[in-house]
Amino acid sequence: MNVLLLGSGGREHAMAYSISQSRRIGTLYITPGNPGTAQCGENVKPDLKTAAEIKAFCLEKNIECIVVGPEVPLINGIYDQVKSDVDTAHIAVIGPSQAGAMLEGSKDFAKEFMERHNIPTAAYKTFTRENLYQGFNFIDSLRAPYVLKADGPAAGKGVLILDDADDAKRELAAMVAESKFGDAGSKVVIEQFLKGIECSYFVVTDGKNYRLLPTAKDYKRIGEGDTGLNTGGMGAISPVPFATEELTAKVVRRVIEPTIRGLEAENIIYKGFIYFGLMIVGGEPFVIEYNCRMGDPETEVVFPRIQTDVLDIFEAIENETLDSFEIKTDPRAACTVVVASGGYPDHYPTGFSITGLETVNNSLVFHAGTRKDGNRVLTSGGRVLAVTSFGKTLKEALGKSYASIDNIAFEGKYFRRDIGFDVDTN
Ligand code: AMP
Ligand code: GLY
Repeated sequence: MNVLLLGSGGREHAMAYSISQSRRIGTLYITPGNPGTAQCGENVKPDLKTAAEIKAFCLEKNIECIVVGPEVPLINGIYDQVKSDVDTAHIAVIGPSQAGAMLEGSKDFAKEFMERHNIPTAAYKTFTRENLYQGFNFIDSLRAPYVLKADGPAAGKGVLILDDADDAKRELAAMVAESKFGDAGSKVVIEQFLKGIECSYFVVTDGKNYRLLPTAKDYKRIGEGDTGLNTGGMGAISPVPFATEELTAKVVRRVIEPTIRGLEAENIIYKGFIYFGLMIVGGEPFVIEYNCRMGDPETEVVFPRIQTDVLDIFEAIENETLDSFEIKTDPRAACTVVVASGGYPDHYPTGFSITGLETVNNSLVFHAGTRKDGNRVLTSGGRVLAVTSFGKTLKEALGKSYASIDNIAFEGKYFRRDIGFDVDTN
């Protein structure tokens, strides 16, 4: 089976690695890919940008399955474009339809969906430029801190948590009236702050049936002890020690089942991944966000733990046979530690030579922000590498990743030494 994978980050390298190990893979193409994905298949140069380019490529290379890593192509409707064209309708697309991607593409849509299907989430109201003053009154009716979310996709930057009501009003005005986040912020969801423990669940679904993937927890802040600015994620662990069978049963009953049933009832085509970002408050799960894709860096710990051939999983998604499908997972603990450019997530220089990659033999090194210059691998992004290891215990896995990172060098190398600090690693 020839597969086209869209994306260029650590998530896509981890997916490419799993796909390349399938006994059924013909040629794996990645667009645009990175130097890591080039070790698992062929990067497509120049990268495919438009639906027409993707179509022409799929027909030329006899692609049978398109796997979509990031949310943007999904929100822009890649699924519908491929499926509505008679020439490409036979190609499996792993990812939701444009309507399904709205779960991530619009916070307001996601909130209304949860309300319709009785899925627990923080109380909220939505505001625009037209009812800005009601927004101020709503802020006055809440207790601090205040959570403001730009409705549209803002590349992970659209959520503000503010301690002061006046600051919250100023930010609300900046978002809806001064377009602080562009169009994404012309509508703003203001919601109740939930205090609890964050945890993510992932499923694959064919729109009717679903299967759980291993749980993961990511570490979003740049600084040790979960301090400083939010990032895309500085590391992740899997499984999550506090995601007990009891909690999982509750998440399935209160969140996952009603989400799948809701999609089905509303005739929303959804054949891909759902990422449930949860806050566990007093043992009860609340949805703080849906994503229509896998997480990054969560994929770098979840995918290596999947022992079932991923192309078999994708086929079951396409054929809607996930109900009779079992996904086997590696019982060992896994961790990934992100190695970033100094200065990230603010400004950071790139273009530094990375050395020591060939010395790593106890970890998987996924490329996130790298590029090739001749034989040299250079830094080219904020998050540069994700170093994944397994262990009988999480502590052992972490020890391996940190030992591997010690042998990798580039100017400004930064990573958190405390991934897993808040859970029992033994
Ligand atoms: P999101 O982009 O929706 O994942 O939000 C970014 C981060 O903001 C989340 O990972 C949470 O840490 C935090 N957050 C979002 N919504 C809430 C909420 N209602 N209460 C508390 N924290 C929240
Ligand atoms: N690591 C968080 C995300 O992928 O959204």
